[in-house]
Amino acid sequence: MSIMKRRQFLSGLWVAGLGFVALAAAWTSWDLLRPGEAKGFGGKIRALPPESVTEGAVIEVSAARSYLTDVNDDIRALSWKCSHLGCKVSFCDSSGQFECPCHGSVFNRAGDLLSGPSPRGMDEHPVEVGADGLIYIDTGVVEDGAPPGTVTIDEPARGPSCSEGSH
Ligand code: FES
Repeated sequence: MSIMKRRQFLSGLWVAGLGFVALAAAWTSWDLLRPGEAKGFGGKIRALPPESVTEGAVIEVSAARSYLTDVNDDIRALSWKCSHLGCKVSFCDSSGQFECPCHGSVFNRAGDLLSGPSPRGMDEHPVEVGADGLIYIDTGVVEDGAPPGTVTIDEPARGPSCSEGSH
């Protein structure tokens, strides 16, 4: 192979390599950014079959940073991020209510604000049942909780608060 042909060959290889890298980068970007198929928080999180969310149940779905609960035959995903300053709200089994450990906001099982400094109820993510029959929580969408004074279920505390005795 003459020196010129060898140079042309190597230069062709270099261009083909660059083209391959550009194609791989474009594919990766498209794969990461295509809508509706994100697999982690910020996308749609696959959860449980709807039958698992029985009346009165509160099920923590860590991947969605949410609680699934059934309110008046409607499955809802309540964000655990407190609408006050963002602490993780916990569900208290003894009271049957959500309680924020940071500044004491209390929410009923429907996420309505009952007391404390939060400006609204618990925020929510939309929920849908997919073609596979499982619940999907769309963590890419956040709907503001109900304004203070909204009470959609009549469920007073069933027992002591989890924060009693901790102050
Ligand atoms: S962060 Fe929840 S009450 Fe302040």
